[in-house]
Amino acid sequence: MKKFLIIANWKLNGNFNFIDKNINLIKEKINNSLYFCNLSIAPPYVYLNYINNLLKKTSISLTAQNVDIHIKGSFTGEISIKMLKDVGVKYVIIGHSERRLFHNENNNFVSKKFFLIKKYGLIPILCLGETEEQKKNNQAEKIVIKQINDIIENNNIDILNKIIIAYEPVWAIGSGKNANIDEIQKIVLFIKNYLISLNTKIVENIYFIYGGSVNNSNIDIFFKKNIINGFLIGKASLEAEKFISLIKKTKKYLVN
Ligand code: PGA
Repeated sequence: MKKFLIIANWKLNGNFNFIDKNINLIKEKINNSLYFCNLSIAPPYVYLNYINNLLKKTSISLTAQNVDIHIKGSFTGEISIKMLKDVGVKYVIIGHSERRLFHNENNNFVSKKFFLIKKYGLIPILCLGETEEQKKNNQAEKIVIKQINDIIENNNIDILNKIIIAYEPVWAIGSGKNANIDEIQKIVLFIKNYLISLNTKIVENIYFIYGGSVNNSNIDIFFKKNIINGFLIGKASLEAEKFISLIKKTKKYLVN
């Protein structure tokens, strides 16, 4: 069985005080009971190394919010996959709609990042999802399949082995308007069936997680069906007490 995965995506938030408070609280309140899930923190780049040291001797891992498509050289402002590996990163988020929107990252660019992450032995968290308009026009399936196809075309189907696919409808991110479990099920099953049609075994080693306005108050609805293997959580991961309570609620559903 896949161990449930919870990624806290802090985005452009936090400072040393915030980090000390949050990580200490998490360590104090839930580290010992984290056997039921894998928890990973995705802070801004500059704090990765600091947090890596704070997380030593815990089961909590580190996620990077981004990576460059180059390994080294004259690329001012960029961070490479080797550097992320150096500071203890396990997962790397790519294809996030905020990067697609604010940094014009297209599927081709995302697939280059994907390839490098796999090549260097880290785990990509590939974000996919449709916009509000695409949803209205019934294009959600088409959009997510295109997002996957561009990865496969530039590489090969086996590259999807041991990865994480995060279904994150753009309209649900940071909006307070989460997708309901039927909407999530529809897209996740569509993706799974599509991948199975290409390779019968491949989905066994893929995690399907959901992101988009998951919080302490709506967490129960995501367990109404057994469809996802985890969450990518933005805003609701920024307040340690509430985030801890969210994790504890999750535990209720995962531990019999
Ligand atoms: P949100 O963000 O939880 O604030 O909606 C999720 C994400 O962007 O991964």
